[in-house]
Amino acid sequence: MATIGFLALMTGCAQKSGSTLQDKLTVNDKKIDEIISQMTLEEKVEMLHAKNIMASEGVPRLGIQEIRYADGPFGVREELGDGFKPLNWEKDKATYFPTGSAMAATWSPEVAYECGKGIGLEARSRGKDVMLGPAINIQRLPVGGRSYEYLSEDPVLAGVIAAGYVRGMQDAGTAACVKHFALNNQETNRGSVDVEVDERTMREIYLKPFEAAVVDGGAMAVMPAYNRIGGVFCSENSVLNNDILRGEWGFKGMTVSDWGGTHSTEGAALGGLDVEMPSKTYLAEPLIEAVRNGSISEEVVNDKVRHILRVRFAVEPIPEDKATQEITSQKPGQTAAYEVAKKSIVLLKNDGGLLPLKKDNLKKIAVIGRHAEEITALGGIGAGVKTLYEITPLQGILNEVGDSSKVVYAPGYNTHRFVSWGFDKASLEDPKVLEAEALAAAKDADVVIFVGGTGKFIESEGFDRKNIILPGGQDELIAKIAAVNPNIVSVMISGGVCDLREVAKYSPAMLQGWWNGSEGGHALADVLFGRISPSGKLPFTWPLKLEDSPAFALGNFPQGAAKADIFASQYRKDVEEEYEPIDYGAAGPPDDGHDIAEYSEGSLVGYRWFDTKKMDVMYPFGHGLSYAEFAYDNLSVSKKGDVVELAFDVKNTGSVEADEVAQVYVHRDETAVEWPEKELKAFQRVTIKPGETKTVKLQIPASDFDYWDVDTHAWKNDGAKLTFLVGSSSRDIRLQQSL
Ligand code: BGC
Repeated sequence: MATIGFLALMTGCAQKSGSTLQDKLTVNDKKIDEIISQMTLEEKVEMLHAKNIMASEGVPRLGIQEIRYADGPFGVREELGDGFKPLNWEKDKATYFPTGSAMAATWSPEVAYECGKGIGLEARSRGKDVMLGPAINIQRLPVGGRSYEYLSEDPVLAGVIAAGYVRGMQDAGTAACVKHFALNNQETNRGSVDVEVDERTMREIYLKPFEAAVVDGGAMAVMPAYNRIGGVFCSENSVLNNDILRGEWGFKGMTVSDWGGTHSTEGAALGGLDVEMPSKTYLAEPLIEAVRNGSISEEVVNDKVRHILRVRFAVEPIPEDKATQEITSQKPGQTAAYEVAKKSIVLLKNDGGLLPLKKDNLKKIAVIGRHAEEITALGGIGAGVKTLYEITPLQGILNEVGDSSKVVYAPGYNTHRFVSWGFDKASLEDPKVLEAEALAAAKDADVVIFVGGTGKFIESEGFDRKNIILPGGQDELIAKIAAVNPNIVSVMISGGVCDLREVAKYSPAMLQGWWNGSEGGHALADVLFGRISPSGKLPFTWPLKLEDSPAFALGNFPQGAAKADIFASQYRKDVEEEYEPIDYGAAGPPDDGHDIAEYSEGSLVGYRWFDTKKMDVMYPFGHGLSYAEFAYDNLSVSKKGDVVELAFDVKNTGSVEADEVAQVYVHRDETAVEWPEKELKAFQRVTIKPGETKTVKLQIPASDFDYWDVDTHAWKNDGAKLTFLVGSSSRDIRLQQSL
């Protein structure tokens, strides 16, 4: 697929989709116009930049409160002072929710809704108006530093989950700020990288989740990303912010720059940015001058104020003395966090039915692996949560097992411990000693629970991983454990993929346990010991090796030398001694020196690539086993008006109640344009009792099968013959029927 410039093609000719959720934001427009007419230019511009690191100004003279922001997206961030320094309060301990890939692994908009609502309620208790989340960029690179924050490699799954989260958060009274708009798919040089993507791919893959969050979710705020698209910074990209977001999707709320992502006065003012954060450089004094000298119309400023006031009136202001009366984390949030965690854990394999473990048969359980006791809430920069508590895998297992079996824990390998804004190297122990302890623990155990994974020292905002190899010698360790005890259940604690070829070789059973929030350890123990059946499904493809994945196979990553990151350089130096970023200082990288990220794989992202190229993978997109089995039958597909209706039966043929996520993909023949081998179009999570059959009914709007026509810049039907593939993963198709 040809890679072509972005701006030349994007003339905003697509149909308007209109949105009642967005229209709700305009109910106060008359009042807002009156307010604007009473404001001075200085008062207006005062609203368009930072008041402090996490607030922008209201209209104090007219009694209109400032807007208070907080990260996001997995719990309300701690209170910050200058330069992001924590204020070290006691009452700002929040519930830590499962991170993005875990939430998406539930394939449940209802669960995402509860998650958004739980965070939204805690935000209200802290007096926050806008939560900086959800983060919904497509997981393009397995090494992506923020893959754990993002939701999926698939735009339909990411969009459905994002819309659920946004609705929940906004029903709790807090505005959601969807980020990072758009194409912020890598952390390397995120502040300057210039994405070159063809127009069709951008529309069909990368913009879709944002459209869902805005149109179906009704998001009140959107955060333009750091990067450039077609040479233009997102914060000043008029095509993106004015033509598509507002013009086509009917967005009525406010845009807020990513922190430090504003680059000019005129560009930002005319390119659709409403608030510059966390500085007052561009949409500040120079904007007042530009209006005074006539180069920018005051109407442009009025529009921005209107967007902000719409959100201000939609979100009830909480006076300072009413906020933070109690500790942020409260029972409803904790319950919601547990519900997400419970449904997110993915059973990757279960040879010989090793899982669930039966406590009665186990005198001694060896838990091996530092990640069993690792806290995952903090770290990763913006998305870290100072949590009231976090049940680790080890704690969860101990709570579940009680006195019924002996549990012996050995860390086995080292990880870098996260401490405040850096890593504690002093905590590293002698690997030989760790290994000897681990082997001694494993030797006479009835089962070994090997807990491996990554950590926020590897998966973080501000940089991408160099590879997907498990750190700390985990591969070597598990091989040695297997030699003394082959009865291994492995649990991976990570946000993104790791190279699991070695671990899988030695583990008859494997679970993907994610960074699963305050209640993660409890949810994990429930799955390990069979209180619940695992029901998570992978939201991304698990490749065999990094080089197989599209951007790597095509040499589209990495791009150029690493430049200093806006926030993460010091952080990264702590863990990578050889890391030497180019420091361009406050002026940032020179305009002529920015990197190009070429997306020449086009729409073949994730399974679209692997399935089209018929490549082997470790685990396919949508994969996740259960303690039950499911039989699929009786597929019917029909078209009624503008909707395709599907119905099929799913029967639980196993012996335990369990959830299944039934997935519908479409394959196309007789096409007028190129398509991937298959694409996810709909899905449904169902709870089914043993022996019970449930009929799943799904409706898909016919327009969901359209492609983006680059000649007319509009959605168009190519008249292809559609075959619907129904199954339990992208590669476990049980039923199919053509329309
Ligand atoms: C991140 C955003 C975050 C912001 C404020 C930026 O570095 O990219 O996701 O919301 O900081 O903390």
